[in-house]
Amino acid sequence: MDRTPSADQDRTVAGSRRSFLLSIGAAASAGVLLPTLQGCELAIPAGLAPSAANDTKGGDATGTDALAADTASADSVGPADVPASADASATTDGAAVSETATPADVPATPDVAAPKCPGPAVATPIGTFDLADPKYADLATIGKFVPFDAGADKLVLIRTAECTVIGLSRTCTHDACDMGPGDAGKWDNKLLRLKCLCHQSEFSVTGAVVKGPATKPLKLYQVSFDGDKGAVAK
Ligand code: FES
Repeated sequence: MDRTPSADQDRTVAGSRRSFLLSIGAAASAGVLLPTLQGCELAIPAGLAPSAANDTKGGDATGTDALAADTASADSVGPADVPASADASATTDGAAVSETATPADVPATPDVAAPKCPGPAVATPIGTFDLADPKYADLATIGKFVPFDAGADKLVLIRTAECTVIGLSRTCTHDACDMGPGDAGKWDNKLLRLKCLCHQSEFSVTGAVVKGPATKPLKLYQVSFDGDKGAVAK
């Protein structure tokens, strides 16, 4: 018996297959069949299940986007950034160490002008003077003298040399004349003598009587002087 299908039989089978596939495509388009067909090896003609394809594409796209995001994220915080941060920290640390070690960063010692006339300070001063004060401005000139009062102590301060100011009582021991400049006093810087114009008594730089009628010495005070200012002590 001849079992070879005839041409009519072939056309019938082909038509049945086409109808079956069209039915499947229609069901797929309606969203009814795809869940059932998942995992099935049936080949769905391209274009018959566009939503499934789109879903797959969307999934891929999402995955790609996520991957891209992950990749971007990884790039943003990736190893390339870590060394940069580490380098920055190292640089900062290095700078801190450098700042500590660099002499330029060590607080500079304030410049203090050396005194024009270095010398010991007096103990327990009873007063001070400064050539910047108009009352003592004449002491800027060698040979000049000024009155200086400290409570009951009445003195004359005399600039005898570049770095020397002496202090003597200005009350004459003869008859208590005031030997201040402009009163009864006169300073001779050549002889280094303080003269009392009341009766012509004369005193040395130590207060000793050089010429009478005075017989008692003048009180000598301790004076420190740095060229610009100074202090007086008993
Ligand atoms: S009061 Fe100074 S000499 Fe007489």
